[in-house]
Amino acid sequence: IPKFYFESARVWKEQSVKKLLTDALNKNQYLRRLEVQQVKDMVECMYERTYQQGEYVIKQGEPGNHLFVLADGKLDVYQHNKLLTSIAVWTTFGELAILYNCTRTASVKAASNVKTWALDREVFHNIMRMTAEARHEQY
Ligand code: CMP
Repeated sequence: IPKFYFESARVWKEQSVKKLLTDALNKNQYLRRLEVQQVKDMVECMYERTYQQGEYVIKQGEPGNHLFVLADGKLDVYQHNKLLTSIAVWTTFGELAILYNCTRTASVKAASNVKTWALDREVFHNIMRMTAEARHEQY
């Protein structure tokens, strides 16, 4: 199995953080079909990204390059400048554009200074592809 697809993207993190990230990915309704090993690999490859209060993490209509988990702070979700909701800490967001290759369905804006864990789209798809290839070799 060509591990090199994403091996270089691994970022060390504490076990407690890995647990929180795993739970955050697993409770996302669109990511339920991921396998245990895929979630593990994704967690390994997530890295910290911080945003200042008032900054956009995601802009509606733009292409998506990352999937995120909120680790600290307050994020608001807007559609056409209308406030829809806030994102709870240790929740996954930004998964739709990554999963379905669509543009961002909403804007996500930092209502305080925010810490997130991000996963690059390319790494996400490499992890998915690697599992498919491994299965192909098996049969
Ligand atoms: P994505 O479309 O990639 O980028 C914007 C993200 O906001 C989206 O993925 C979801 O994770 C999130 N989002 C979109 N609509 C809502 C909503 N109505 N409530 C909460 N989160 C949303």
